[in-house]
Amino acid sequence: DAAPAVLPSMLICDFGDLRSEVAKLVDAGTKVLHLDVMDGHFVPNLTYGMPIIEGLRRHTDLPLDVHLMISDPLKYARPMVEAGADMLTFHVEAVEDAVHTAREIKKLGVGVGVALNPDTAIRDLDSCLDEVDMVLVMSVNAGFGGQSFNPVALDKLKLLRDSHPDLLLEIDGGINEDTIGRARAAGCDLFVVGSGIFRADDYGVAISELDAAIAA
Ligand code: DX5
Ligand code: ZN
Repeated sequence: DAAPAVLPSMLICDFGDLRSEVAKLVDAGTKVLHLDVMDGHFVPNLTYGMPIIEGLRRHTDLPLDVHLMISDPLKYARPMVEAGADMLTFHVEAVEDAVHTAREIKKLGVGVGVALNPDTAIRDLDSCLDEVDMVLVMSVNAGFGGQSFNPVALDKLKLLRDSHPDLLLEIDGGINEDTIGRARAAGCDLFVVGSGIFRADDYGVAISELDAAIAA
């Protein structure tokens, strides 16, 4: 069983001062950074790609968990790894062949995750579950921070946890002090938090409160 952890999502943050954002997160006890890559095609929003990942890589040794909300994950997988990604998670909705996608990412020597949106059934993951290190269960539709939590994610987490006791499970979207405990109870290991941290005055206080809610 993996130790539970809160992963700050670099989406609603100060992109003009990423170095101090990372320093504040490190001071707050962050162990892994979650990076939201969007292409304006798979999702109707556009964020960043390899240059930002490479820039973050120069400022921190923290593992970089890269959430690819893009239409063609294999086109960018190798450049993302060369930029410093440690884990690449692709969306099952984005690809024709999830098994092939997972195996090709694995060959690059990084962890591989598969993500699914709230409307996607977990049976769509059946073929690739044995090929991935992690499943990212979305509790909002991928694309934007600050949306409200969809509890359909909890049922998916429970089913995945029961069928795959050793699989790493991550949740992303609308995670706050109220929802994080429910996700933990459903078997989740990694909790991605955007607005719950970046809209707080003190990241350290926000993260300790989330940690406490996981443990409760
Ligand atoms: C949404 C992103 C999330 C997002 C979460 O598409 O994948 O990582 O930043 O933000 P909150 O915690 O505000 O829902
Ligand atoms: Zn994300």
